[in-house]
Amino acid sequence: MLRQSSLVVVANRLPLDDNVAPDGACEWRRSPGGLAGALHAILEQTPATWVGWAGGTGQARDLPDIGTLRLRPVPLSEEELRGYYEGFANSTLWPLYHDAVEQPVFDREWWLAYRAVNRRFAEAAAEVAEPGATVWVQDYHLQLVPQLLRELRPDVRIGFFLHVPFPPPELFMQLPRRVELLRGMLGADLVGFQRPQAAHNVAQLAAKLLGAHGADDAIILDDRVVRTGAFPVSIDVAEMRTLNARPYVVNQAHQLRHDLGAHKRVLLSVDRLDYTKGIEHRLTAYSELLRDGRIKVRDTVMVQVAVPSREQVESYRGLRDRIEREVGRINGEYGRVGEPAIHYLNQPFDRADLAALYQTADVMVVTPLRDGMNLVAKEFVAARRDDSGALVLSEFAGAAAELSDAFLVNPHDVDGLKETLLQALAAAPEDLATRMKAMRDHITSHDIHAWARAYLTALEQSQALVP
Ligand code: ADP
Ligand code: F6P
Repeated sequence: MLRQSSLVVVANRLPLDDNVAPDGACEWRRSPGGLAGALHAILEQTPATWVGWAGGTGQARDLPDIGTLRLRPVPLSEEELRGYYEGFANSTLWPLYHDAVEQPVFDREWWLAYRAVNRRFAEAAAEVAEPGATVWVQDYHLQLVPQLLRELRPDVRIGFFLHVPFPPPELFMQLPRRVELLRGMLGADLVGFQRPQAAHNVAQLAAKLLGAHGADDAIILDDRVVRTGAFPVSIDVAEMRTLNARPYVVNQAHQLRHDLGAHKRVLLSVDRLDYTKGIEHRLTAYSELLRDGRIKVRDTVMVQVAVPSREQVESYRGLRDRIEREVGRINGEYGRVGEPAIHYLNQPFDRADLAALYQTADVMVVTPLRDGMNLVAKEFVAARRDDSGALVLSEFAGAAAELSDAFLVNPHDVDGLKETLLQALAAAPEDLATRMKAMRDHITSHDIHAWARAYLTALEQSQALVP
């Protein structure tokens, strides 16, 4: 029997463990990445259907519900996985949308796979949406889905949210399929971004490429009004506070502190192993501070968590090799027996262990070259049990617009980054407390629930405005 929902989320990945338990039960799996974390908080207790890829290739099997959430898997063949996910999504759009910090690759075969898979997602969403449902499509993997879905189901309300940056027009114009991609996304009733600049870029492109008119927050295209706006995504602050108070987390933080050296200053970074995260720039800055004798391994240590990501994509494999070589070099040159300069952890952590790490850090170093938001920065603030701790944050992360009390830095400027790290290490406790309180106040009032409310309310109102 076909089961339909009034709320349908469409996102590349389903949030489930690869291994379904022997009794057939499924559990949420918070795969590393901002999107899964953001939606976890909202959908945990809301009746809805999530349309997405269950991992792997071949036929999709039926999946049991996770609480009130139904799962509608979308199968991918091996060829589609390569063309759609590894290819067009992660080797064309991802680098291009992140300021082309890595060269985007344009391959005509990948586009065909991307279009075919987007159509399959749109068809699956059309099938499980009840009449008049709200369908919320997520991220750059599925940019054609809004328009395809509108053609299949004109009765549903369609939202699209882009978790990553939307590039400046001159970069977007490089895309061979720019018209289809723009039109696809503008098939939604409301298109949400992390930053207002993205909505401005899209309005300019819609005028130039599609002959649309209107304003940054309302694009008039053909006979429709497409609302656009900035809705900065956030984290589940309440979940983090509950974690903070768990005895396991408190004990684990004490243990980590003991293991790292009770007297040492701890610099921490937590990233997906991705070239947008500025890991190499950060290692250069840290290594030069050691070289210049401005910090010493006897009183400072760095912990770099870099969880494996998109390992089938060549540029990610190359990055991992370079990082691991550099960590080895730094430890070889500056470490002492039992006292490495850097602890490098290329592995996933569960939420409790991440919270303990955040609590242990003196300075959290978040230096992406470009990032839609960066939830790690917000998680660090939420994880602190007191007002201590410094956040060094790239100006090029979406989070910098909200966390302006962090030590903001341009990660391309290695000298500036070095000075900022020293400044954060030397900051007076009163200065840190003022900064931390302001950042905590902000994320408390702008948590993930506020984000979902703001977006879904705007989506509800947007369709009423369609002539
Ligand atoms: P992105 O979406 O580009 O990965 P974000 O900083 O917005 O970047 O989100 C990363 C998410 O992945 C955070 O919720 C963070 O806690 C999680 N994460 C990062 N590293 C790990 C890890 N080693 N194990 C588990 N989760 C991780
Ligand atoms: O936030 C950007 C994003 O692409 C998310 O859509 C995704 O959940 C995360 O990064 C991790 O990427 P992937 O699903 O490719 O492992």
